[in-house]
Amino acid sequence: MSSSASPPSRSRLIDVRIEQARRVRGAPHVPGDKSISHRALLFGALAAGRTEITGLLESEDVRATRGCLEAMGASVHADEARLVVEGAGRLRNPGRTLDCMNSGTTMRLLMGVLAGARVNATLDGDASLRRRPMRRVAGPLRQMGAHITLADGDVAPVRIDDGAPLHGIDYALPVASAQVKSSLLLAGALAEGTTVLRGLIHSRDHTERMLPHFGVHLDARRDEIVIEGGQPWHGARVVVPGDPSTAAFWIAAATIVPDSEVELQNILLNPTRIGFIDVLRRMGASIEAHVERTEPEPVGTLRVRSAQLRATTITGDEIPAMIDEVPLVAVLATFAHGTTAIRGAEELRVKESDRIETVAQNLRAMGAQVETLPDGFVIEGPQLLHGARIDTHGDHRVAMAFSIAALGAGGTTQIEGAECASVSYPKFYETLAELTR
Ligand code: S3P
Repeated sequence: MSSSASPPSRSRLIDVRIEQARRVRGAPHVPGDKSISHRALLFGALAAGRTEITGLLESEDVRATRGCLEAMGASVHADEARLVVEGAGRLRNPGRTLDCMNSGTTMRLLMGVLAGARVNATLDGDASLRRRPMRRVAGPLRQMGAHITLADGDVAPVRIDDGAPLHGIDYALPVASAQVKSSLLLAGALAEGTTVLRGLIHSRDHTERMLPHFGVHLDARRDEIVIEGGQPWHGARVVVPGDPSTAAFWIAAATIVPDSEVELQNILLNPTRIGFIDVLRRMGASIEAHVERTEPEPVGTLRVRSAQLRATTITGDEIPAMIDEVPLVAVLATFAHGTTAIRGAEELRVKESDRIETVAQNLRAMGAQVETLPDGFVIEGPQLLHGARIDTHGDHRVAMAFSIAALGAGGTTQIEGAECASVSYPKFYETLAELTR
C-alpha cells in the first residue's frame, strides 16, 4: 500500500521559555494514567452495556482512541464527573480512515481489536506514528488468520480486511512491549480457541488486570498468559489513578532543584510502572511512598524532597518498567555524581522519536557530553547545563524532560514545538509555572 496522503499535523506551534528555578513546591493534581485510559475506553466499546470511567486522561492520545471508537459506533458522553461508554457489544465498519494521531497504543491495540472483531478499516496517524514498526503486531495477528496490509517498510497506514474468524495461537513475544501483548490478548479474546503468550510478557500488565472486570477472564502466570476466545464482555466501572509517567516529571524536578518538596496524591504504583522510582531511590533520591489501596491497581501518595544524586547502571531487565521515563533518567544522569550507564534500551529508538538521538542532541545543546550506544547512553556527572534551544522533534516526553532539565540549568531554555506535551499532559506548562512560582 502506498502512503500518498500527507499525514495530519498538529495545529499551533508554540515555543515556551523556562528559567532556572529557585525551588519547586506544591501538591499538583496528576492527571489520569494514559495506558489505563486507552484501555477503559476500548474495553467499554467492546462490552455490551454501560461503562463508567472516572478520572480519564483528557489528552490528544486518548482523544485519538475515543475518536476511532466513536467512528465505529461506540457512544461516549460525559455524565457529571464521569465519562460513560455505551457499548453495543460490537463495532461497525467506520466510514472513514481511523486517525490514531500520535498514539502507538491506539493503533496497535486497535489492530488486534479490529482483526478480532472483523471490522474493515484503515488506521493512520501523524508523521511520527507513520515511522513506527507495525510488523511486531501484524505478524502474529496474521498467524491468527488476520488480513493486514502495511505500507512499505512495515509501517502505517494499516489496512485490515475482514476474513474468516481469527483462531488462537501459541506465541513467544520477541519484544517486551505491552502494546503488542495487549493487542494479541484482545485479538485472542475475540478469536476462536485458546491463545497462549510466552516470552517477553513482563511489561505493564493493565490489560491483564482490567479484562476480568469486563467479564473476560485470563490466566496470567509467571511464564505464560492464557486466554480463551469467545467470552461475553460486560460494562464495568473504572477509576483511573494518576499517571506515574507524568508524576515522574515532578519527582525529577523536586529532586534536582534545591529547597524543593512536592506531594503527589492518587498515583498509580503498579510495580510494572514504577521502575523510575526504584532507580531514582538507588541514585539517592528522597521519595516516600504510602500505598493507600491495592485493588484493582496499587495507588498511593508520593512525597519527594531535593537530594544529591549518584550515578547508577541500568540494565535491560529494568527498562520495561520505566520505558517512558528513560529520557528523564538521562537528563538526571547529568546531575548525578559518577558515570551512569543505561543499557538494553534499544526500544527507545522506535518511540515517538528516536529518543536516544533526540535526548543526546538536546543534552549536547545544553552543554553536556553524552555517549550514545545502539541500546542506550553513558553519561558522566555532574555536568553544568546551560539554557539552550530545545528541538522536541514533536515528542511529548522529550519536551517535558527538557523542561525539567531547564529548571536546573543556568539561564533560559526555549522549548521549540512545546505544544506536543498535550499528547499526554495538556496542562504541563501551567503546572510547571505554578510549582516554580
Ligand atoms: C504503552 C506501552 C509502552 C509505552 C506506551 C504505552 C501501553 O509501549 O511506551 O507509552 O499503554 O501499552 P510499548 O509497549 O511499545 O513499549
